[in-house]
Amino acid sequence: MLNIALPKGRLGQKVYAALEAIGKGCGDIFGESRKLIFENADAGVRYFLVKPSDVAIYVELGAADIGVVGKDILLENDPDVYELADLGIGKCKMAVAAKCGYREDMSRPVRIATKFTKIAKDYFDAKNRECEIIKLYGSIELAPILDISDVIVDIVETGTTLKENNLEVIEDIVPISARLIANKTSHKFKLAEIEGIADNLNKG
Ligand code: PRP
Repeated sequence: MLNIALPKGRLGQKVYAALEAIGKGCGDIFGESRKLIFENADAGVRYFLVKPSDVAIYVELGAADIGVVGKDILLENDPDVYELADLGIGKCKMAVAAKCGYREDMSRPVRIATKFTKIAKDYFDAKNRECEIIKLYGSIELAPILDISDVIVDIVETGTTLKENNLEVIEDIVPISARLIANKTSHKFKLAEIEGIADNLNKG
């Protein structure tokens, strides 16, 4: 039995559709039900529906053998797992953004609002730019508008959220997409099953 942690939401639905297409379906797991565990014993798979930011924890701790997670979460949390494949979906980027026309004041540390404190710190440290990080949990775009930060470090997909709030990207940090990850022990003992799924998802 292969245990798979799927992120709730659009990304998980796409990945599940690809797994269903190769005979690993378990019925309507993204339907109305509030169930969190779905099993298809004949196909040898069990799915856990988890919050996207928790996928890597289930995989690292071995509750799930494999999972699908955004590269942003891997960079931010640095879990001890194998990254097996770039699934080429859920594409977006991590970027620095600010109010349109923003000019940086180099005489003081730059104030950064973000959910991704490690990614932000690593990026500004690499540039030798002193910074102060303000950790937020959502609606990050409000921070520079209300002047609690100079810039934000956040995910940009279509750019609509920035545009509608009169913000713009000032620097790209890294491209992001969904990755297939595996627990290190599972990868050793369930290699054929895991590689089979990785190959099929890669083809899709
Ligand atoms: C993410 C991100 C941006 C938005 C970017 O937010 O934090 O706010 O999506 O997408 P866009 O470029 O297509 O507009 P999310 O929907 O995850 O909400 P939250 O950050 O407020 O939790």
